[in-house]
Amino acid sequence: MTMKPATTSTAADSEVASDEEYAEKLRLLSEGSVHRHFDPYKDVDWDNPDYAVDVGAERWILPSVNDMIAKHPWYQNLPIDQQIAIGKYRMANIVKVGQQLECVLISGMALYNYSVPNGSPEFEYCTHEMIEEHNHNLMFQEMIDRIGMDVRGLGWPLRELKFLGALMASWFPNIFFMIVVAGEEPVDHVQKQLLRSSEDIHPIVRNVMSVHLAEEARHISFAHAFLKKHVSGSSRLGKFGLSLVMPIIMRWIGYAIVVPSRAFFAEFDIPDRVRRQMFYSADAARFISDYFDDARVLANDVGLMNPVAKVVWKILRIDGRLSRHRSEPQRDAT
Ligand SMILES: [Fe+2]
Ligand SMILES: [Fe+2]
Repeated sequence: MTMKPATTSTAADSEVASDEEYAEKLRLLSEGSVHRHFDPYKDVDWDNPDYAVDVGAERWILPSVNDMIAKHPWYQNLPIDQQIAIGKYRMANIVKVGQQLECVLISGMALYNYSVPNGSPEFEYCTHEMIEEHNHNLMFQEMIDRIGMDVRGLGWPLRELKFLGALMASWFPNIFFMIVVAGEEPVDHVQKQLLRSSEDIHPIVRNVMSVHLAEEARHISFAHAFLKKHVSGSSRLGKFGLSLVMPIIMRWIGYAIVVPSRAFFAEFDIPDRVRRQMFYSADAARFISDYFDDARVLANDVGLMNPVAKVVWKILRIDGRLSRHRSEPQRDAT
């Protein structure tokens, strides 16, 4: 590969119209991976005394800027030590869910790469991305082990459907990359919102999120480019089917990321009434629908936002405006 100056995904974030443009975009993304990547052990300051889990433990109290548990009076009225315990569990569990989704992504991409034709720029880029995701998983596991809570991550049934990603990547790559977008967009949104805020979060969380965000920008950019390129080659019927599948995937995966499993609510004796208020109220739906701003723009750009699809987005309560540019700050973000 001919090396040019490092390029970020943002610089390469243009419309994909032709094979040449798509190849050039992937070449730029691959260059970005070669020149700017992170090490899970060197780029997180694990040995900093301030990073010890129980130093400044109040910093594990969940930030109200973007956490629906933290916004609820039930949580706010708990004693400080319980707020800290829930905060540690919540952060560790979110990272565990991220790690499980990365495993699905890696397994799918590996099988996608299995049959990529020689000469395709997808092989090199996907390989870079899998390496980065493996490093994220090492970083996530280190964080979970340091927090020291035995979190399980995804709840049923997604935990048991882990092989679906690999199947989709083999047979229906467009659906697989929708799953990728559904996994990456909400996490990216939540992490950006938190880092942009003035919340005093634990430095382990801040450092891990910063490293993750920097590389996820490339991954999201690739998933968007892939769908722009490949969906355009689908038949009208195929596109219509994809337009209905996309919001279902976004809703399903997005909520699986945001809403903790039943084990979490049982562990902390959180009443079912409170659980529903936290995650299934009209306010919560509005808040969660913001996670999909960029996904809706993508659906629109690739021709998957027809009148029937709009109804599905609406029924699933993840409809909303189309943001003017990627990751536009939200109404509740500051
Ligand atoms: Fe990642
Ligand atoms: Fe990623």
